[in-house]
Amino acid sequence: MAVKELTFILVVCSSIVCTSGVEFFTSTDKISQLFNEEDFLLKTFSLYIDAEEENIKLMKRLLLLLQLGSYLDPVDPEKIKDPVAAYKLLRRVRAEWINIVDYTQLSLYQLYQTVLTYAQIPQLEDLDGAASGLIRLQEIYKLYPHNITKEMALNADEAYHVGLVAYNEDKFQHAFLWFLYSLDRLTQYSVTTKQQLLRHLSLSSYQFGNLPMAIYFGQQLLNLDPTNDDIKVLLDLYRRLRFQRTSNPDILRLSNESSKYETLCRGEVDERTSKRQRALSCRYSTGGGNPRLMYPPLKEEVEWDDPRIIRYHDIISDREIEILKNISRPLLSRSKVYQDGWDTVSQDRVSQSVFLQDDPVATRVSQRIADATGLSMETAESLLVQNYGIGGRFEPHYDALETGVNDRIATFLIYMSDVGMGGATVFPDIGVATKPKKGSAVFWYNLHKNGELDLNTRHAGCPVLVGNKWVANKWIHEFGQEFKRPCSLSEWE
Ligand SMILES: *[C@@H]1O[C@H](CO)[C@@H](O)[C@H](O)[C@H]1NC(C)=O
Ligand SMILES: *[C@@H]1O[C@H](CO)[C@@H](O)[C@H](O)[C@H]1NC(C)=O
Ligand SMILES: *[C@@H]1O[C@H](CO)[C@@H](O)[C@H](O)[C@H]1NC(C)=O
Repeated sequence: MAVKELTFILVVCSSIVCTSGVEFFTSTDKISQLFNEEDFLLKTFSLYIDAEEENIKLMKRLLLLLQLGSYLDPVDPEKIKDPVAAYKLLRRVRAEWINIVDYTQLSLYQLYQTVLTYAQIPQLEDLDGAASGLIRLQEIYKLYPHNITKEMALNADEAYHVGLVAYNEDKFQHAFLWFLYSLDRLTQYSVTTKQQLLRHLSLSSYQFGNLPMAIYFGQQLLNLDPTNDDIKVLLDLYRRLRFQRTSNPDILRLSNESSKYETLCRGEVDERTSKRQRALSCRYSTGGGNPRLMYPPLKEEVEWDDPRIIRYHDIISDREIEILKNISRPLLSRSKVYQDGWDTVSQDRVSQSVFLQDDPVATRVSQRIADATGLSMETAESLLVQNYGIGGRFEPHYDALETGVNDRIATFLIYMSDVGMGGATVFPDIGVATKPKKGSAVFWYNLHKNGELDLNTRHAGCPVLVGNKWVANKWIHEFGQEFKRPCSLSEWE
């Protein structure tokens, strides 16, 4: 029966399953859990309605009984002086009241409100964060709204929201394009009005410096709404400014000169770099005769020579990957960055992650990294498993923390998924991009042999355009490597 099921859900909910306050947009994997959440919401709502219907039926039956009771056994107001009649009336009214109280308390309203409180529902920050991710994708991959919505169109209201988020981030060209897209999709069912869109089209044109366009949309708005004093004032201002400023004519071109990082993310590699890459070698390694690596031997590929970036193929099996993901899934939380001595949440790093301690698979993987690199894992950090979200990325940074002592000497980055589009690891200063390939890993030293930071190891995780990006990081530290990677006083090693 519905009542029992709903009660059961509540008990399960308050114990483990439902904790509120989850961040969704920073992990594609978390977002996929929303299918279950939606299912849960609709199912419990249906149970709630069934249960209340049952209660309504009971209450109607009660009402009939009470009405019938008073009809069959009437008490004549004339006879109320009769003590027996008075007694009967007192008793009956009290009994009616008790029954009504009992039956109305059957309502599941309170219970259902509690179930709803525990549901994991995206917050406003999730919506804005997701929209912000879309805008970031647009920026880096130079996409127009129609490119990005090719597979799945947004309606006018959704596009208006994305535009507003872009506007609030001062990305006025992107905002303009989303408002235009929204205007194109306006229907009688849209909540967004033509007035709102024309106003924002005019404002964003002004903001990125196209006055003719600002005036054009302002005038459109005034034609539609001749009593709008606000736009009259703005139009007046734009017309006066028009003769004092040169306009940015470049309205439909996303003209922002992009950084090397963004160029690399788009897969634009210059010819010299690719020539140098083709000359690099691929080989099987047994780690200098390490018996653990004889069968199967490690497949090593040099992706870059200086700094040396080595790709290890098939370093982890699909099954191990699945286990690591399964363990990590419930433990993921927003990744932080190290800034001024603190770990803080930052827009520069949009992903969720967890350090896996004492896990047998993580330990096995750690041993394999030690075998492959010849380095000691004694002072290495625990394996960090990461899942990226909408527009999920990690802006250019060094892994080395520049703490001076026992810094992160090297990085071993394992790709635990293929990524449909985007998600490459790029080194903007040397112009190299390594693509995620499930089961492979890339390895490089962050520090020169003399302990100085290698400035060429600045790298970034490109936003994921299509797919679900999982990686695992192993940061290896200096202590324990004294005999494994002899240090040098030379500046150039
Ligand atoms: C986006 O659309 C423009 C114009 O239709 C087209 O030229 C461009 O190639 C598209 N870009 C991508 C990445 O699809
Ligand atoms: C271009 O993008 C960079 C960062 O990516 C930003 O600092 C700059 O303000 C942008 N320029 C314009 C004209 O939007
Ligand atoms: C991982 O979890 C999924 C879903 O719970 C399960 O079907 C699968 O067997 C698990 N895989 C491993 C290797 O534990």
